[in-house]
Amino acid sequence: MARGSKMRKHDQAAPATIQAATQQTVEQHEAERIYREGVVSLRDIIAPSSIEIESNYIKIGRRFARTMFVFGYPRSLFTGWLSPIINLDEIIDISLNIVPVESRVVLENLKKKVGQLEASYAINQEKGKVRDPGLEAAISDAEELRDKLQVGEERFFRFGLYLTIYGKDLEELDLVGRKIESILGTSLIYTKNATIQMEQGFNSTLPLATDMLQISRNMNTGSLSTSFPFTTADLSRNEGVLYGLNRHNNGLVLFDRFSLENANMVVFAKSGAGKSFAVKLESLRLLMLGAEIITIDPENEYQTLCDAVGGTFLRISLASDTHINPFDLPQTVDPDEADNALRANIIMLHGLLRLMIGKMAPSEEADLDVALINVYGSKGITNDPMTHTAEPPVMIDLYKTLIQLGGAGPALASRLRRFTEGTFSGIFSQKSNVDLNSKFVVFNIRDLEDELRPIGMYIALNYIWNRVKTDKRRRVLVVDEAWQLMKYPDSAAFLFSIAKRARKYYLGLTTISQDVEDFLSNRLGRAVVNNSSLQLLLKQSPAAVDIVAETFKLTTEERDRLSQFPVGEGLFFAGLSHVIIRILASPTEEQLITTNPQQMLEATGGVAAAGSVGSDTAAVPAAATIIPPDLQTPEQQMAQTQDSVPAASTPPAGTAPAPAPFVAPQTQTQTTDNQAHVGS
Ligand SMILES: Nc1ncnc2c1ncn2[C@@H]1O[C@H](COP(=O)(O)OP(=O)(O)OP(=O)(O)O)[C@@H](O)[C@H]1O
Ligand SMILES: [Mg+2]
Repeated sequence: MARGSKMRKHDQAAPATIQAATQQTVEQHEAERIYREGVVSLRDIIAPSSIEIESNYIKIGRRFARTMFVFGYPRSLFTGWLSPIINLDEIIDISLNIVPVESRVVLENLKKKVGQLEASYAINQEKGKVRDPGLEAAISDAEELRDKLQVGEERFFRFGLYLTIYGKDLEELDLVGRKIESILGTSLIYTKNATIQMEQGFNSTLPLATDMLQISRNMNTGSLSTSFPFTTADLSRNEGVLYGLNRHNNGLVLFDRFSLENANMVVFAKSGAGKSFAVKLESLRLLMLGAEIITIDPENEYQTLCDAVGGTFLRISLASDTHINPFDLPQTVDPDEADNALRANIIMLHGLLRLMIGKMAPSEEADLDVALINVYGSKGITNDPMTHTAEPPVMIDLYKTLIQLGGAGPALASRLRRFTEGTFSGIFSQKSNVDLNSKFVVFNIRDLEDELRPIGMYIALNYIWNRVKTDKRRRVLVVDEAWQLMKYPDSAAFLFSIAKRARKYYLGLTTISQDVEDFLSNRLGRAVVNNSSLQLLLKQSPAAVDIVAETFKLTTEERDRLSQFPVGEGLFFAGLSHVIIRILASPTEEQLITTNPQQMLEATGGVAAAGSVGSDTAAVPAAATIIPPDLQTPEQQMAQTQDSVPAASTPPAGTAPAPAPFVAPQTQTQTTDNQAHVGS
């Protein structure tokens, strides 16, 4: 008994405690709920204050939106028909709903359809009616599709295309709507507003992968592929290097600069905006595709890159033992060029000497001309190309000739003396000892005195130009801080003549300038710009915006953006196409080309502690892997094949390179068959 009552007691106690416990959890939940309600969540931040759904538009906060859908397509479509909409400078949300349909089901339906069509055809014939071409086309389309589906060459899809447009008022909404309607209308693609279904329409264009409108058309693989959105007419090709991302549609800016009218490029921006970065990145990628790069580098920015790719780094300064002799002649095989080689070099020397000793009176110029012809003559060099292989004179020979010349000669000689025996002697007055037989050559002129820089650039340019004329190859010549050349009419004219003639020698000239005003206020500077098919404008200082906008004929929108771009972003013009580009480098590339002092320190620190840095982007060991094989010594090649570094398998130059991280992959933006039939 006692036991029984004890048990009851226990039974009564249990519900009481359970009740209390549940009560407590309920209270806790309630408290938590109240607490959560009071916390600001992401939703609160992004949600509009109100949404008003009308039959023909939605008002979200203060903006208006309207969804349109495509209901009709023509019999055939061309690749990229969607691009004009994607590239339209309006805010549009586009959703493409693609649902695969099982071929078996389609085949059965098609069989029925073909049956019906053929029956109509037979009836028409029996009645003796005239032939109906539309009916015949429908039969042949359906038959063709059946064949392709049967063998699995094509597949079948349901395709829905919805667009939500935005505007600040209904008028703007109508305007954008009409724009889209007319653009698509030109390709015989018809749209309608999703009247009374605005909410469903809006939800269908959110990135949620829901299709609440369910308005779709049948398409086969070929037709569907024509709607691939990420194509920009001129800037996405199947060849060339990746320049960056198109900010407009997130497509790739990918092409070969040698396929344009000329391969020249100008890069303008204020200091630190990323000019050198962009150019180095392009150089690195072009190098991987077999082009040769020659750079004139006034800031010592290219050394890391040069070392990493196994290039030649030439330091030109009063103290260095690198010499370039401006009297060298090109060893060209072209008979016209060869006949003219001496004359051309003498004209170049006139320009150079004006830079060195200042302006000359016409009589002095005439005397100098005689002296130049004589000094070449004294070495047995005449206009006859056969004599051009003789050892060329040097500056001191000219000095001696001038002294003996009479007339203005001795006076000119004394002005020239500081370059032959004075402070500046030694650098340009000796035999050349530089070798340009490398895929990547850098002429570093940082340590050259300011006064000598334009002279140094001029001489280096001439040396390179002679080399370019001697053997034609895919080459890019980069002149960084080119405004220094624009300061003097002679060097400016020389740069312009290179820009004008580069194309014939398979050369692309890249001109980088920080001082936009200096460059563009010069007639020759503007001529260089006009002779460049590629133009990259990164962030400009507000003071330079006007002149840039005027020179490049920018739209107001482009002009307004120009001074606000972040580092590495800008306007990119190739021929007639304008895009906003974001220049992107892989971490390994960035390591090689950055001029950020902190990153550079980290990189060199990375060498010291190579083992301790876990990432593969760490530093120079990774850099070593990008030396193209034809630049490597046999030991390097051996070492690489023993390493397990994947880039060791890069094929030799001349064959297509393996897809390294910085060589853009082949895009599929262009289908080979650019016209495809829409399933009926
Ligand atoms: N696209 C980019 N992505 C990441 N970093 C970048 C990019 N472009 C530039 N930078 C960084 O910005 C800094 C300045 O770039 P860069 O040296 O190219 O400037 P610049 O325009 O050549 O300047 P200057 O005229 O002074 O030579 C560097 O530290 C570089 O690493
Ligand atoms: Mg720079």
